[in-house]
Amino acid sequence: MLNFTYSNHTDIIFGKGTQHTVGQHIKPHAGKILLHYGGGSIKRSGLYEEIIRSLQEAGIEIHELGGVQPNPTLDLVREGITLCRRHAIPFILAVGGGSVIDSAKAIALGAPSSGDVWEYYISKQPADFTPLRVATVLTIPAAGSESSPNSVITCTATKRKLGYGDPQLRPVFSIVNPELFYTLPENQLAYGACDMMSHIFERYFTNTPHTDLTDALCEATLRTIINNARLLRHGGLRQYDPWAELAFSGTIAHNNLLGLGREQDWACHAMEHELSARYDVPHGAGLAVVTPAWMRYIYKNHIPIFLQFAERVMGVTIPPRQPETAILEAIRRLEAYYEEMGLPTTMRQLGIPADHFAEMAAQAVSVRGPIGGLQKLDANDVLAIYNLADR
Ligand code: NZQ
Ligand code: ZN
Repeated sequence: MLNFTYSNHTDIIFGKGTQHTVGQHIKPHAGKILLHYGGGSIKRSGLYEEIIRSLQEAGIEIHELGGVQPNPTLDLVREGITLCRRHAIPFILAVGGGSVIDSAKAIALGAPSSGDVWEYYISKQPADFTPLRVATVLTIPAAGSESSPNSVITCTATKRKLGYGDPQLRPVFSIVNPELFYTLPENQLAYGACDMMSHIFERYFTNTPHTDLTDALCEATLRTIINNARLLRHGGLRQYDPWAELAFSGTIAHNNLLGLGREQDWACHAMEHELSARYDVPHGAGLAVVTPAWMRYIYKNHIPIFLQFAERVMGVTIPPRQPETAILEAIRRLEAYYEEMGLPTTMRQLGIPADHFAEMAAQAVSVRGPIGGLQKLDANDVLAIYNLADR
């Protein structure tokens, strides 16, 4: 196990009716906020009215910026920065999913900065100032941004989707009420489950020896996601407890508890970001395509961890002296699960042609060089993985 320091200061306020307490929770921190949200789902569901009421009851001055789109853009971030500066707003309330929360974090970083916000995403330099504070009301369990230090933003002009992380960007608190997920479309359930699973895979597949506790936590969380997303898929989306299990798992999957003391991978996320940057596909759909291809490409060099995954997560009985058969069966089961959830598993199903694979592969390794902790992948490896997924 590797050395680590862990601190996660995000309060998770979990359960039924908790959105009505948002005003009370903000009041000790700020009297004026930017209310940031997406393309309209919160207005259709009635959540917007509930949030406004709670904020007004707490006497909080509200400025608004809606219109965040999935794969949030730098352009709207810049608008938010201008608003916060003009009205001296110290606090941003993000009501939505990963896209809204990430956009809020980018605004929080950019507003007090003397430089251009995009420079941080390119250079990954830590901020030498305190960003504005962010809190969230989560409306989709998926990205884990409600308690992560990260923000992922797309610059449409340059077709780049880049992440930035700073512990100061972890939300002050996040309200997670599983009832708010009842209005989600089925495809978002699937994208969310796939993203959470990937956040665990990125930590689980490691070369670090002796990680028994986090291995077991990863495996339990993966099984919980698989089972409860399946319950929702087949039993309908108005079920509190499966959403509660999924939402708790989604937060655990990405608050980095499961990654402590182990080298992490993150190649699949880097490969996927090239797909969503160029083709605006949902992040979870892109992950369902690249992940099985990545597994097939590298498993031979990492038999023990893939065998453990096969047995403990995908429930494969390991035949004597046939580890590869068991691993390939586990990858097949993972792919079948994605299909059962209605996810694409090939580039063709995702609607992505092979035309720009080489360019995307080069771009995937252009920020920090070869990607991946379990196995370093250069542009040729990434190209081979895109080609494996091109069925
Ligand atoms: O915009 P609205 O109208 O609200 O609709 C949204 C959006 O179309 C809809 N939706 C959300 N809650 C709803 C709802 N519809 C009905 N009822 C509800 N309760 O769902 C759509 C998708 O929302 P989005 O926020 O894009 O989804 P998600 O949470 O999956 O976020 C994806 C983004 O997060 C990034 C991804 O790259 C992607 O840009 N990620 C952020 C991470 C982080 N900050 O730590 C880590 C992840 O790996 C990921 O990269
Ligand atoms: Zn993700």
